[in-house]
Amino acid sequence: MQPAPVSRLEHGSRQGRLLRDTFDARLFRQTSGQAIDQLEAHLSDFSLRGVELTEPAVLTEAARSLMTTETDGIAEFDEKKLAAIIDLYIRTGIQVHSPGYMGRQFSGVVPLAGVIDFVSSVVNQPSSFYEAGQLPNVAERIMADELNRFIGWDPGTFAMLTTSGGSLANLTALLAARNRKLPAYWSQGGSALAGGARPAIAVGADVHYSMARAAGVMGIGEDQLVRLPSNDRHQIDVDMVRPTLEAAERRNLKVFCLVASAGTTSVGAFDPLDELAAIAREKDIWLHVDGAHGASLLVSEKLRGKLRGIDQADSLTWDAHKMMFVPAPCTLLFYRRREDSLGAFRQKKASYVFDEEPDIYTELDSGDKNFECTKRPMIMTLWTLWAVYGRALFAEKIEHLCQLASDAHDMLLTEPDFTPVHRPEANILCFRYRPEGVGEQELHRLQVAIRNRIKRGGRFFISKVNVDGVAALRVVMMNHEITAGHFRMLLGEIRRTGQELLAGSDGDDGQE
Ligand SMILES: Cc1ncc(COP(=O)(O)O)c(C=O)c1O
Repeated sequence: MQPAPVSRLEHGSRQGRLLRDTFDARLFRQTSGQAIDQLEAHLSDFSLRGVELTEPAVLTEAARSLMTTETDGIAEFDEKKLAAIIDLYIRTGIQVHSPGYMGRQFSGVVPLAGVIDFVSSVVNQPSSFYEAGQLPNVAERIMADELNRFIGWDPGTFAMLTTSGGSLANLTALLAARNRKLPAYWSQGGSALAGGARPAIAVGADVHYSMARAAGVMGIGEDQLVRLPSNDRHQIDVDMVRPTLEAAERRNLKVFCLVASAGTTSVGAFDPLDELAAIAREKDIWLHVDGAHGASLLVSEKLRGKLRGIDQADSLTWDAHKMMFVPAPCTLLFYRRREDSLGAFRQKKASYVFDEEPDIYTELDSGDKNFECTKRPMIMTLWTLWAVYGRALFAEKIEHLCQLASDAHDMLLTEPDFTPVHRPEANILCFRYRPEGVGEQELHRLQVAIRNRIKRGGRFFISKVNVDGVAALRVVMMNHEITAGHFRMLLGEIRRTGQELLAGSDGDDGQE
């Protein structure tokens, strides 16, 4: 009889030792210590930095050069390689902790949130099921209660779950809305509606693109998205809602959900929720509020009035990875009625996860309510910050950022070659550089080209957005280290860049 082959991972073998070493607690301490040293240096650097854009081929080459050439066995750990990987990771990112970063809605996170996220990665407790993530599930319940105090729903009957991003939360809420308003749809699909009617969703003209995407996923065609016109403050124009919905009815569209934005992505405008809620009630339409950006204003006594009427909504998307300063993703999806949280996904046949005999533990499971099966315990970052520092950390920072945007707006009014596009409602400010002599035709391309050149310059990171069809420069104040002086420097850089572009000097062609 042949002897059984000896496993390469046999105790005492080189491969066995290397495998055990990768899990070694002392190596873990050494490597995490090294990462922390690098991150400390990164966090201590307050210089003006946007993003250092690297050509993908160059970065691919740099990344490949860090890969082991060992193809057969486990490679020996190489400390220098790890340091180089971390360095490359830090260097090639948008520098979210720098005051030069003013361009997107994700933030430089509170570092403590990173510490908890790091713990989450090591203990690995996916949180869709209580048995796999006990503390995350309890923390979800606690945060639901804490934040619902600002929404104002009945504490005994509302529900909250976490999802991987605002886009997924919006899709989930739309599914719940459709299944409540068109109950036969889940089993019968399109034939559930009588008389050839088609399901439709009413959205603001400025709604986030995830809504159209969610509609596409749900089989709701582009022309079943009923666009509600905006007023001059970039909000849904309430006076136009009834006539637009009635026109949709005449097209045999059955609008089951009206989506309002609490903080539009483009300019941070807040739709009038109380008035929209009254219309939705009158027409028996679900009101979903996309507060991915602006729901966080609820924790501020000073600012929560922007969401007046939120207590009358049916569901709310709230991204904590935007204005609650935790790592992405961390999204909360709130439902006014708990039973609706079970309505999004009605399918129950998965014997390997859905328990046949519910008990006090499975009661906290969210696997039947969220799309994900395996889900990051994302609440842990938010809950830890809330537990350690309390509400005021968020309220103070949000109020400061909104004030910063308002001050920046006022500064623009004193600069004749700059024109604000709106008065900021939150921490987003859009404006144009328009010195005398720049015509309508040129205006759009000039903003796009300025934005691109500023980005490539690497000192500031700003974004651009089309407002009423014309590009505008967009800043999102996410960093409390930004001062009026930094914003003035940005304006100087925009002016210099704009002048160079108008003079026709080499550079960008305005393509994004
Ligand atoms: C208003 C609004 N809704 C939804 C989203 C999508 O959220 P996420 O990026 O978390 O998927 C965003 C993102 O910017 C947003 O601003």
